[in-house]
Amino acid sequence: MNQFKGQHILSVSQFDPDSIAQIFSVADTMRPYAHRLKRTKVLDGAILGNLFFEPSTRTRVSFGTAFNLLGGEVRETAGMATSALSKGESLYDTARVLSSYSDIVAMRHPDAGSVAEFAEGSRVPVINGGDGANEHPTQALLDLYTISKELQFHGHSIDGMHIAMIGDLKHGRTVHSLSKLLSLYKNIRFTLISPKELAMPDAILDLISKGGHTFKITEQMEGSMDADICYQTRIQEERFESQLEANKYRGRFRLNQDIYTRHFQSKTVIMHPLPRDSRADANELDNDLNLNPNLAIFRQVDNGVLIRMALFALTLGVENIVQQYDCDVQWYSSKQNL
Ligand code: NCD
Repeated sequence: MNQFKGQHILSVSQFDPDSIAQIFSVADTMRPYAHRLKRTKVLDGAILGNLFFEPSTRTRVSFGTAFNLLGGEVRETAGMATSALSKGESLYDTARVLSSYSDIVAMRHPDAGSVAEFAEGSRVPVINGGDGANEHPTQALLDLYTISKELQFHGHSIDGMHIAMIGDLKHGRTVHSLSKLLSLYKNIRFTLISPKELAMPDAILDLISKGGHTFKITEQMEGSMDADICYQTRIQEERFESQLEANKYRGRFRLNQDIYTRHFQSKTVIMHPLPRDSRADANELDNDLNLNPNLAIFRQVDNGVLIRMALFALTLGVENIVQQYDCDVQWYSSKQNL
């Protein structure tokens, strides 16, 4: 049964382990299209309204690419300044209008709760691409999908795993959504590493405890951790009161090969939602890790396209007929060898 058909995807609280397994199995079927082994025209004629009112490169392009790979077309709106919202239009009105131009909407906005507010006025399904510091459900799904694939490779599963989350756990919506998703599984150990002022919000800690998991809060990387996953994040400067305030935390948690060797196991998987801040005074994830086989950041990006394709197929109710609209790829593609 497809419970997602015609539905908005606004929060990870909509998911349970069964529906997540369904999304992941549809995502698996999308791999040949992403690798250009074949094409599908199942969404031929469908239009995605890709509305990004906050800076984004990978999430916006990933949504657009996923829709294109299913044969659909993408209309982009980027930036608040160029939209009618800057003339005082309500999100409800914007939604009524823009949803009449498209079959589905993906949206990012700087205010928590704004995408849900938009969805109330929308006549088509809306997928949350990040609303302020609140949630980022598609990133959480692609992170969890990546975690499950990486752990599978090492013969482990999500249940019983140990994840270290590092950095700005207060403002980082990806760690909020991912923690909520992980709480649905069994016996997860969380090590939460951040300055006290940027600690994981209590509401998330409550969820973790209620789910029967354990967490340790610390202000620095200590000793050697048996973490399966190390999830590094960027200081979310744009969510601080001032740049001066954000600067206090710049460069506080760096990860490079040397620090990794000191604190993690040789098989610990390194993740980051990207973009990583590579400026010298921040550099939270050093380039010297680029050749480390456990660096999964670019596999996360690839998986993001599969997850978003799966969500489009499910919300538009075509998940079982994608292959009926297959056609050949005519051009050379190096991706076919991946
Ligand atoms: C994240 C976001 O926008 O929350 N990026 C992303 O979507 N891949 C993380 C970040 O900006 O640091």
